Amino acid sequence: MNIVVICGSLRKASFNMMLARNLAALAPGDVRLTLLDGLEHFPPYCADIAQTPEIVTRWADAIAAADGVIVVSPEYNHSVPGTLKNALDWLSRDTNNPFARKPVALQSASTGMLGGARMQYHLRQIMVFFDARLLNKPEFFVSHAASRFAADGTLRDENTAEAIAGHLAAFRLFVRDHQSERPWGSNDVHQAGAG
Ligand SMILES: Cc1cc2nc3c(=O)[nH]c(=O)nc-3n(C[C@H](O)[C@H](O)[C@H](O)COP(=O)(O)O)c2cc1C
Repeated sequence: MNIVVICGSLRKASFNMMLARNLAALAPGDVRLTLLDGLEHFPPYCADIAQTPEIVTRWADAIAAADGVIVVSPEYNHSVPGTLKNALDWLSRDTNNPFARKPVALQSASTGMLGGARMQYHLRQIMVFFDARLLNKPEFFVSHAASRFAADGTLRDENTAEAIAGHLAAFRLFVRDHQSERPWGSNDVHQAGAG
């Protein structure tokens, strides 16, 4: 199972990037995680830019080809960081909408006590417009992030490691369920929707 990971922080010593980098070691054996780099290369979105930037195409293709996406992001002012929102705006303009019906899990780390929870609800709202399939439970937040990682990024909190492993195991099952669903537009789904 191929999962791509998007990190919403550009900071060198980012706790969210530390979290993102710790995922692979805690993932189920058949899950391969690939961290997408280059968030800093997304230009500010402008509809007048006729040529799609290379970074947009690269991320859109990687997301479209993946079985699922994990977004790991800080919370800025109770919401989604502007850099991440800008990248999502670009990706949403891709003609094939790479997030459509794509399984997505959200994670966040914050130095505060709510762990970025408010950001996650705004990000869910954006993902509704993308028609992504969001894992509802378990939710996953890292509060007081500065106390959970060593300076080199090593996770030093057993409870957090367990919660990460549980979240990734749940997401794996969610992706598997999604893959065995009948495609949207089959007769059953159509009739249920019409009723
Ligand atoms: C502009 C800005 C706004 C922030 N707003 C919030 C916030 O609303 N809620 C929160 O929990 N932390 C907030 N923080 C603190 C971040 O959680 C903290 O800086 C965190 O380390 C950022 O993530 P990173 O380490 O991955 O870069 C904010 C930080 C910045 C720079």
